[in-house]
Amino acid sequence: MILRQLFDKESSTYTYLLADPVTLECALIDPVLEQVERDLTLVNDLGLTLRWVLETHVHADHVTAAGELRKRTGATTAASAIGAPCVDQALVHGDTIAIGDIRITALSTPGHTDDGMTFRVGDQLFTGDTLLVRGCGRADFQNGDPGLLFDSITKVLFRLPAETVVWPGHDYKGFTSTTLGEEQRLNPRIAGKTRDEFIAIMNALDLPRPKKLDIAVPANRACGQVPE
Ligand SMILES: [Fe+2]
Repeated sequence: MILRQLFDKESSTYTYLLADPVTLECALIDPVLEQVERDLTLVNDLGLTLRWVLETHVHADHVTAAGELRKRTGATTAASAIGAPCVDQALVHGDTIAIGDIRITALSTPGHTDDGMTFRVGDQLFTGDTLLVRGCGRADFQNGDPGLLFDSITKVLFRLPAETVVWPGHDYKGFTSTTLGEEQRLNPRIAGKTRDEFIAIMNALDLPRPKKLDIAVPANRACGQVPE
């Protein structure tokens, strides 16, 4: 598989390009509207055809490029069935998407938001904000629920092999990837913590409101088209 990790500095968002080297079909996970030219240039430079745009969840910190990419390439957009109503394909736990010989499996991992999905490709996971390197997404808006987040991390993700590679949806410290085993041992919010301890940690974070929340959430429910 061809795999590229792309970064948006303003929102610290990672976008992932996954491509089948034989058919040259590709998917983008969590593209950012301001980076649409960069991403399309990379797709074209590598001789790829964009088939799918996948969202791990409705984002609060940036506007998605999904609608713009769909308009310009004819790609199919997909996300959780309880996420943005604008997508072409609504996903539920266990659904698979094929790009050539590559199978992408959707795993329902709510908690950061109610529509959180992790995408699994073999021994690699694209976790969105469910699990970050030494952290996890907040759970205090968009129907977030710290208890559900703990369950998603420990009962869905941590049941996969420890060597599974984790590609996060964001990073704020310069990390790029991790493994499930590393996070089980070293993630300060989860390692050795009970569900109640995790909930207490999450409820005490006292984070500022995301700057783009009021713009990004309605725009992302419309696949990136800001409502008039
Ligand atoms: Fe998020």
